[in-house]
Amino acid sequence: MTNEWCGWREATERALYGPGDGFYTRPGGPGPAGHFRTSVHASPLYAEAVATLLCRVDTALGRPDELALVDVGAGRGELLTGVLAALPDEVAARLRPCAVERAAHPRGLDPRIAWRSELPAPGSVTGLLFANEWLDNVPLDVVETDADGVPRRVLVRADGTERQGDPVDGADAQWLGRWWPIPPAGGIVPAPDAVSPGLRAEIGRPRDEAWAQAVRTLRAGLAVAVDYAHERDGRPPFGTLTGFRDGREVAPVPDGSCDITAHVALDACAGPSAQRLTQRAALRALGVDGRRPPLAMAATDPAGYVRALSAAGAAAELTDPAGLGGFGWLLEPVGGACAGLLGPADAA
Ligand SMILES: C[S@@+](CC[C@H](N)C(=O)[O-])C[C@H]1O[C@@H](n2cnc3c(N)ncnc32)[C@H](O)[C@@H]1O
Repeated sequence: MTNEWCGWREATERALYGPGDGFYTRPGGPGPAGHFRTSVHASPLYAEAVATLLCRVDTALGRPDELALVDVGAGRGELLTGVLAALPDEVAARLRPCAVERAAHPRGLDPRIAWRSELPAPGSVTGLLFANEWLDNVPLDVVETDADGVPRRVLVRADGTERQGDPVDGADAQWLGRWWPIPPAGGIVPAPDAVSPGLRAEIGRPRDEAWAQAVRTLRAGLAVAVDYAHERDGRPPFGTLTGFRDGREVAPVPDGSCDITAHVALDACAGPSAQRLTQRAALRALGVDGRRPPLAMAATDPAGYVRALSAAGAAAELTDPAGLGGFGWLLEPVGGACAGLLGPADAA
């Protein structure tokens, strides 16, 4: 790995996906589950909820002969495996499950699951495209305001040392002006005309483009992105770029030793017919409920009570507004039939 100065987008691309030695592409690595816990790893309830959503998509599409489930950023295929286990046989028989993942095909994967490194061709998919914690790993550039308050691209070396580069311009400056004004709209700092050195922002343009390309793969159906997100009126004034290794948050050093991630401006990714809601609202609309079973059940059905109690605990974790439940779900129906499958747009 070189120690040259470059922007965070290029440095992250190399650190996470470098051929052979990237954090995600290194052969024999533990995969995402070895470093952090996503909703997919938290409980099988999550895959069951995605299976429920897939059945709604299937019904809305009139039960096509071939129903696709494309998992973008599929990790080791855990979500696809869980959904296959949860689906009714009749739907599973028509399902074409496909992982889109830059890491290699995992050993022992269910042979029904196709594995590819690139998105399918535009307009080639009928069904559900699902991307859980993919967009936060799409590399982006970071800017920081200098002593005069001018946003400059942050340059970084593989050891994590940073310095400020040129002022940001062109399409990136336009993206910032529209989606992440500096100082941030509605943020805690500072007075409108104050010069504010040291403010940071993350240019989400590559993620908007990646998401639009993913949505375009659908001929008909629903595309869903799930991620930790922020809104234009509440962007964090110092950004969110960070690292994870072995289950702990660490400094983001782009040397391949840790994950590098930043929250997603899902509002900027959203297309014109998109719906956004919290994971809590989305999972509740899919029947995931964190309420405890009635105590009386413990006397009549002790084993069932213990099972229900455990499911309630897992559901509570997935829907906790201060944790996974606070994640954003971005839903993009393509072709009209799959609009409103989770209820009204303003659900919180
Ligand atoms: C945070 S992990 C999430 C894994 C899984 N979806 C989950 O929720 O447990 C992000 C994954 O996205 C993959 N990824 C990132 N960019 C990608 C791209 N452009 N195409 C395919 N996979 C990608 C990474 O290799 C990594 O496995």
